[in-house]
Amino acid sequence: MADLLKLGILISGNGSNLQSIIDNIEKGSLKAIIKIVISNNPEAYGITRAKKHGIPVVVLKNGDFKNKEEFNLELIRILKNNYVDLVILAGFMRIITPTLLKAFPHKIMNIHPALLPSFPGIHGQKQALEYGVKLSGCTVHFVDEGVDTGPIIIQSAVQVFDDDTEETLAARILEEEHRIYPQAIQFFAEGKIEIKGRKVRIKTEK
Ligand code: GRF
Repeated sequence: MADLLKLGILISGNGSNLQSIIDNIEKGSLKAIIKIVISNNPEAYGITRAKKHGIPVVVLKNGDFKNKEEFNLELIRILKNNYVDLVILAGFMRIITPTLLKAFPHKIMNIHPALLPSFPGIHGQKQALEYGVKLSGCTVHFVDEGVDTGPIIIQSAVQVFDDDTEETLAARILEEEHRIYPQAIQFFAEGKIEIKGRKVRIKTEK
């Protein structure tokens, strides 16, 4: 067990990406252990998902902290106390401060529901539909100081159809999210990720 990658997963909502990570761990395709799930939303359904699998959960309510920095300091304390190797943002709707980035350099991943650098920020699927692109998708990337600007690890494209709504497109993209997020984490676990500047290379052999 000692060599399993230790994950801390931050959520705010449904937690379907959390679920896909749990499922991949349980079926053995992801060699990791979720040490802690942290939610800034006490109502997040992801909390129920984590508890069902016996994963410890902490709720940190935004309003209980003076500011973002205090909130992030508490995040760091909890993540470090749990010896977390890699921080996974899975639908976490709160800004990460430089203090947290410094505490986990190149060790914070995020998934975004668009093909970055197109359509960063919130409502990536809606932005793509309104722009009229024919392809959209999702991106797993390392987190840096910007909004969805960090080095890209994996992307997957899906077609956008004329009759798509935000919901149908989001559902098609989510299927890909559930495939590539555990894959990116497994690459990290295997030490296959090499970062040079803003470019990520997945080493084919170690
Ligand atoms: C996903 O679309 C993800 O790309 C975005 O937030 C959503 C989270 O969904 N960052 P879930 O909570 O994992 O179901």
